[in-house]
Amino acid sequence: MADVYILGIESSCDETAAAVVRSGEKMMSNVVFSQIATHQPYGGVVPELASREHLRAIVPVVRKALADAGQTYQSVDALAVTQGPGLAGALLVGISYAKALAFALEKPLIAVNHLEGHIHAVLLEERQKENREIKFPVLALVVSGGHTHLYLASQRAQSWNYENIGHTRDDAAGEAFDKVAKLLGLGYPGGPVIDQLSTHGDPTAVKFSSSHLKHPDRRTARPGAKAPASEGLSIAALKRCATQDQGSPPALENRPRFDFSYSGIKTAVLRYVETHNLRGAIEARRKELAGMTKPRLEDYLAHCDPETLDLVASFQRAMVEDLVGKTLAAARACGVATLFVTGGVAANHELRQRFELDAAQEGLPVYFPSRPLATDNAAMIAAAAYPKFLARDFASMEVSAEAGMALR
Ligand code: KG4
Ligand code: ZN
Repeated sequence: MADVYILGIESSCDETAAAVVRSGEKMMSNVVFSQIATHQPYGGVVPELASREHLRAIVPVVRKALADAGQTYQSVDALAVTQGPGLAGALLVGISYAKALAFALEKPLIAVNHLEGHIHAVLLEERQKENREIKFPVLALVVSGGHTHLYLASQRAQSWNYENIGHTRDDAAGEAFDKVAKLLGLGYPGGPVIDQLSTHGDPTAVKFSSSHLKHPDRRTARPGAKAPASEGLSIAALKRCATQDQGSPPALENRPRFDFSYSGIKTAVLRYVETHNLRGAIEARRKELAGMTKPRLEDYLAHCDPETLDLVASFQRAMVEDLVGKTLAAARACGVATLFVTGGVAANHELRQRFELDAAQEGLPVYFPSRPLATDNAAMIAAAAYPKFLARDFASMEVSAEAGMALR
């Protein structure tokens, strides 16, 4: 089979990205234009500004991706674009541009789900390392600013199937990192700052109880516990079922769910701030950091007292323990052979370490994308498009943005 060059375009949130990937396994270029500076003063992504910035950046970003890959508009075999989920106006910029290119160049257009892209970022990473030994079924934790989702992923010929077995009932994990950072006057986005500061605090200093990480009507099953009667089989039965046939996880209707909840821990941090009179110090820090164009770790450290560093480290520890604990419980119950951890929060050092240690204890291989492939990028979109190219699963010219697009 001849090499297939796919130009991927991603514009679902606050990164304008384009990349060329060869045959789903070799990243030829990966250009990401981050809008962080635009959104930073607002402490979060402003949808209208995101669309405007995508419009400004899309043409130069695509040109650079082609040039870096030694390709041209004419030489690529297909175009792939993120259809959803994401911000409707932001998605539309990428989709309209990709449609126009596909029409003008008479090339096939492939519509890709952003979450499928995050999952294929792991596959791309492993293929680049020439690892072709991934065993199925795979459980993928997609953990980002907009999602905390668990998918069972399976592959039949060129067709990938995804079954959602858990998601957050309220805030996504990345959203919790961002909200806590904002609350503590640490700016936006919060994940990378909290990640760096956490090594300077005591992660056992502040206790977050499991009730801070629980949704009132969550149906999360615990290892060794019986699934609620309405969910059919007990976890033990599911385990048996999964061991009998490693290739096919237990039937959909009998599966317990493994949901997450992160709005409680954010409220617990707020309460801590109030009861420990941290407001004054937070406001001072916010002002100091706002005056700097790109604060460095030393700047953050210079404006954080030990109590704040302990709070940050304890928050991250609680988040990591919850994400790892629930994902491994789901992996056990579904009898999966491999774990994928992907999305922006998968860049977190403590999360990666903890997953590696705990999964190894269970004899479960765990794979992550490299950091540039963990956060939003277009190489993952071009990689996810390759099996669709082989299956000739092309989008029509009527394809449009699907802000709430589900992954199946
Ligand atoms: O995947 P992504 O780039 O965009 C979405 O699809 O949401 O993820 C962005 C999220 C943000 O919430 C950001 O704070 C978080 O990922 N993030 C991190 C780290 N790097 C990015 N969270 C924790 N630790 C990190 N090192
Ligand atoms: Zn993402």
